[in-house]
Amino acid sequence: MPHDTPVLPSWTSETTRVPFWIYKDAAALETEQKRLFEGPVWNYLCLECEIPETGDWRATYLGEMPVVVARDHDGTIAAFENRCAHRGALICLDDGGNAKEFHCIYHAWRYNLRGDLQSIAFQRGVNGKGGMPPDFKMSGHGPRKLRVTTLFGIVFGTLSFDTPDIETFIGPDVLRRLGVAAGGKKLEIIGRCTEVLPNNWKMYAENVRDTYHASLLHLFFATFKLNRLSQGGGTEINEDGSCHVSTTLAPEQEEDRAYDGLRSVDDDFRLNDPSLLDAVDEHGDRVRQQIMSVFPTFVMQRTQNVMAVRHFLPRGPDKTDLHWIFLGYADDTPDLRTRRLRQINLSGPAGYVSLEDGCIGGFVERGAAAARDKTSIVEMGGLGIESQDTRATEAAIRGFWRVWRGLTGI
Ligand code: FES
Ligand SMILES: [Fe+2]
Repeated sequence: MPHDTPVLPSWTSETTRVPFWIYKDAAALETEQKRLFEGPVWNYLCLECEIPETGDWRATYLGEMPVVVARDHDGTIAAFENRCAHRGALICLDDGGNAKEFHCIYHAWRYNLRGDLQSIAFQRGVNGKGGMPPDFKMSGHGPRKLRVTTLFGIVFGTLSFDTPDIETFIGPDVLRRLGVAAGGKKLEIIGRCTEVLPNNWKMYAENVRDTYHASLLHLFFATFKLNRLSQGGGTEINEDGSCHVSTTLAPEQEEDRAYDGLRSVDDDFRLNDPSLLDAVDEHGDRVRQQIMSVFPTFVMQRTQNVMAVRHFLPRGPDKTDLHWIFLGYADDTPDLRTRRLRQINLSGPAGYVSLEDGCIGGFVERGAAAARDKTSIVEMGGLGIESQDTRATEAAIRGFWRVWRGLTGI
């Protein structure tokens, strides 16, 4: 029997239909690495408070490209590809640390904190024999360097000279909301963990922009009225669709029948320890829940008094590392810090709210396993990507795909 290779359909429709092959196609994944992660976007790298001292460094990725971020002697932050210029080994093997300089373990080529090649072991050979050619110039070789910028203690990097400044990139709404959460105060890490998601990274990028699902998938949200679509709030999306903020305000009244008849939301449920939900309005804005995304892989969230960074990184076509960093302010009162630590139980891999996000992408992977030529429907809230004073919309997901398609040309 002749065996034809299936030809995947091109993606001609608007961003209201997303073909399932887009998560798997090898050529598409290679294109997104080159044109998106290595293209004109600000990739989240780390937090400034993770590298406060000279020589402090962290390892991360732009897509699949390994990167080192380090605090140099002059106090500035540098970032460079974690790839030895010699034969390509990782220069740094750990997640982070403090170093005076970096040595590749393979043949001991040495780099400074900016990733500049400093010396080559046995460059002149041994006893006059061997070694590198005399005209070999170290300055012409080294890992790729990133442009680095910081915003509210958050460090971003890009390989492209075309990336606009970070304020322009994220737009005024996201800038203002991020400023409330992270600006003006010194951030302090109060916990961290990593979970492995059984799905392509773009499914999680959709999930964090999916303002429609929160109160339906996450029963804890709806049951305890932390986040219902009937509560005030809305969805703010920047001009090109790349970044968004979704906000849920505290309910105006206790009586709310909007969820009657939906999956077992029982108004009679009570927590044995209600202190879990005992939050304070620390910014005076009545925000119960807020998700702030920066394209492509950064999220900052506020849930009650939980403040967290979520950084998700592709690990192949159907695997994603999701790094959680839980934050407080350095000047938190003991009472506020205790609330944050207690409420962290809502978030993370086993969080009362967020545990469902850890598996839902896997359910999509399994459900759509034989449907690469089919599409999902992304039509809630219309066809566009404009900000709306509702969360019953998928506008932010359409925004993600508009930018993804613009960058990849797919
Ligand atoms: S690969 Fe790094 S020194 Fe050889
Ligand atoms: Fe969710």
